[in-house]
Amino acid sequence: MDTHELGIAVVGSGRIGSLRAQMAASHPAVKFLAVSDLSADRAAGLAERTKADFSSSDNMAVIGHPQVNAVIVSTSEHEHLEPVMQALELGKPVLVEKPIALTLADADKIIAKSESTGTPLFVGYAQRFKRRYLSAKDQILEGRVGNITALTGRACNTRAQGIEILKRSATATPVVDVLTYWVDVAGWFLEGIRPVEVTARGHGTVFREAGFDVNDATFALITYENGAVVNLGVYFALPAHAPQLGMGVRIEVYGSEGALILNDDHTDELLITNKGIPHAYIPGLQFQTAFLSSSTPGNWHLGDYWGPVADESRVWLDHLSRNRPCPMATAREARQTLEITLAIEESARIGKAIKLGQ
Ligand SMILES: NC(=O)c1ccc[n+]([C@@H]2O[C@H](COP(=O)([O-])OP(=O)(O)OC[C@H]3O[C@@H](n4cnc5c(N)ncnc54)[C@H](O)[C@@H]3O)[C@@H](O)[C@H]2O)c1
Repeated sequence: MDTHELGIAVVGSGRIGSLRAQMAASHPAVKFLAVSDLSADRAAGLAERTKADFSSSDNMAVIGHPQVNAVIVSTSEHEHLEPVMQALELGKPVLVEKPIALTLADADKIIAKSESTGTPLFVGYAQRFKRRYLSAKDQILEGRVGNITALTGRACNTRAQGIEILKRSATATPVVDVLTYWVDVAGWFLEGIRPVEVTARGHGTVFREAGFDVNDATFALITYENGAVVNLGVYFALPAHAPQLGMGVRIEVYGSEGALILNDDHTDELLITNKGIPHAYIPGLQFQTAFLSSSTPGNWHLGDYWGPVADESRVWLDHLSRNRPCPMATAREARQTLEITLAIEESARIGKAIKLGQ
């Protein structure tokens, strides 16, 4: 088997960077691993846990390391641009976490650099790799749904998780940072068809009382060039002890030949215990009842990580090392998704429809 050896740098050693580094460390093609973080201690701790070869608080020391030939950027949402541009400048392929950036101007800089240097960049929309969405995409490709006429979806999560994200990046709103997964999935299911208009409304008091000027609920209608209508909504202010360890989602797709009903709420998997269930994302938060596999990135089992982030990381590493196909979101797809989520926020703010691509 023809396998290229990989040297991977992971920039950002937080929750998701740690999972990416763990996946890289256990991938057979990865012969060198370097990790960085603004916090030297956090990077050093991750390096110790993953037996990485090198750690630093200087991103360029890992991105520019001669043994590194591909870079994962897992920094906070507003800190993606600089390390991504540094890696692309050196011609090193990039996996950057969603959203690609927080402004279209930054997304355009990334796309221009990726295209001018001929360096591929994929964006971590890991929910594509949840089994139910992968199989749904397969059925759409097989033609069993026909032409998609409508898609409706709702994502919900707890205020505790919403506040945790907003503390890190105050403009990473539930729409731009979380509904973005389902805007991506909708765009992936409708691949090749252009979104043309967004209308949205939002409302909320919970986040405002906590000091963040964002809505608890935002619901949007996205119209595509062929007339298809996509209704996506997010509610991020469930009580902190709602049994969600991540997002609860329901997606329905209707087409000329069939329909897909995807219940991703995890209400069929319940753990009840006196012993306390730690929340994977929120330090110190414990539950006595939880929807078992509702943690959005995945779950640990016997020292290995399983689930969407694990599968997505492996797909990217297999793609680089063995030229396997990579059904991750491309930079241009991620830009389209960002354009839609920003338009949803703007439409909810001004109460008017927004034309896309203007
Ligand atoms: N795919 C998924 O399931 C999933 C889940 C959660 C978060 N995410 C995405 O992953 C990214 C990180 O989220 P997280 O939950 O790991 O956050 P986190 O706060 O746990 O980690 C972010 C880390 O980046 C570091 N950092 C910030 N700016 C930096 C810089 N300029 N250089 C180096 N390090 C820097 C911080 O010190 C922190 O350790 C975000 O884009 C988020 O949207 C993806």
